Amino acid sequence: MQRKEFIRNASLAAASVAFVPTNQLFARKADQKVKMGIIGVGQRGLNHLDLLLRRSDVELVSICDVDIRTLNEAKGMIQKSGKKMPEIYTGDSYAWKRMLDKKQLDGVVIATPWEWHKDMIIGSLESGIKYVGSEVMIGTSLEDHWEVVHATEKYKANVMMLENVCYRRDVMAILNMVRQGLFGELIHLQGGYQHDLREVKFNDGVNVYGHGVEFGEKGYSEAKWRTEHSVHRNGDLYPTHGVGPIANYININRGNRFNSLCSFSSKARGLHNHIVKQGGENHPNAKVNFRLGDVVTTSINCVNGETVLLQHDTNLPRPYSLGFRVQGTEGLWMDVNKSLYIEGKTAKPHQWEDAKAWLDKYDHPLWQRWSKETEGAGHGGMDFFVIHALIESIKSGKATPLDVYDAATWSAITPLSEKSIDLGSQTVEFPDFTGGQWMYRKPVFSLTDAY
Ligand SMILES: NC(=O)c1ccc[n+]([C@@H]2O[C@H](COP(=O)([O-])OP(=O)(O)OC[C@H]3O[C@@H](n4cnc5c(N)ncnc54)[C@H](O)[C@@H]3O)[C@@H](O)[C@H]2O)c1
Repeated sequence: MQRKEFIRNASLAAASVAFVPTNQLFARKADQKVKMGIIGVGQRGLNHLDLLLRRSDVELVSICDVDIRTLNEAKGMIQKSGKKMPEIYTGDSYAWKRMLDKKQLDGVVIATPWEWHKDMIIGSLESGIKYVGSEVMIGTSLEDHWEVVHATEKYKANVMMLENVCYRRDVMAILNMVRQGLFGELIHLQGGYQHDLREVKFNDGVNVYGHGVEFGEKGYSEAKWRTEHSVHRNGDLYPTHGVGPIANYININRGNRFNSLCSFSSKARGLHNHIVKQGGENHPNAKVNFRLGDVVTTSINCVNGETVLLQHDTNLPRPYSLGFRVQGTEGLWMDVNKSLYIEGKTAKPHQWEDAKAWLDKYDHPLWQRWSKETEGAGHGGMDFFVIHALIESIKSGKATPLDVYDAATWSAITPLSEKSIDLGSQTVEFPDFTGGQWMYRKPVFSLTDAY
């Protein structure tokens, strides 16, 4: 690119992102409750509902879902909490629009199937909501991601992906260690989503997990929609739990950025075998051809020279692991063996050391301060922090600690990996959603114990 063109693009980009809200812009009274709504109170939305109900600084104004069974579950939880029953929107797939039209929310949480996220995020922004917390994946195509970024900029709003693994206790202790330089200069990072989802992708239409091999209209919860993605798509369908923490370790979009990506897919056997084993070879679903390879491996390189390896592995028998590895010039941490090695600092040369004492020593200030509040919150307590961060950002009128550029960058790995696989595992260029601002933006995630 010519220097002149580069400067022009950089200043255009600077203009387009010079919106980050300030205290003054969204000032609110200290005792004012944050008015929240939830779209989608399925398995994940019920978790967020629980966390919002626990907070004395939140008024739950409205909830929306198309499924009466889960709405009844939500109503039961609200009654039990003793809080006022919110307005309930249901009846058709666009009831959420009627909810947003009421224009009474400070923020909204979206926990619906992936294919709805882009429309619901943009619909929320168009209705004037300045803070949107969306569950993981903010779109399905690359165009979706650009549209969400552009809408967020246009409406001068905040879109935070509710990526809870960024707040996992060991992940945050390692962030603390990375920032204190214990691993030296980071060189290579690994992570992924390695979770046997066969009993999530199939059920009997009644139970959430397992008990059958139905999906689509005959399935319930994620089996109703998520499995279709395994039928029609081949790529890293769920990159954000792995890449979110990694992006924070190496300051992606904040002094660094992903440059290019290449994905390989294995053959697909796991889902078909599961159907045959559980439902018999004459079950109609035994004829379904699943496009999603059982193990999809993605390599990304960064402009600052690090390499990142992500694995998506959800169709085979295996114990759960996100497979983190954080490796620098002085040593490394791996979460599978819960061990680390730091040259000259861990006890014996060439030998792993149990990570526990290190993780305790470098426990992140955020966990030290809020661990009591995390009790009972989902996924070992880390779910508390995403809702906490969203609400505290609204209260302070500041930008959310994970922003739309993070969300778009992490979530866009899915369509990029699909494209790479489609092209025979060719390397594809990674878009710069920040429009050049990655060079000037500074790390902000969890720098203090506030949120
Ligand atoms: N961060 C995590 O740890 C985590 C864990 C589980 C799920 N998730 C994510 O949360 C999201 C929801 O997953 P889930 O497990 O709750 O799925 P789910 O199927 O249990 O819940 C989705 C809900 O959305 C509702 N819905 C669908 N279309 C709608 C519409 N047009 N309007 C209103 N409601 C609608 C469904 O009726 C359902 O109740 C997904 O993005 C998923 O990837 C994240």
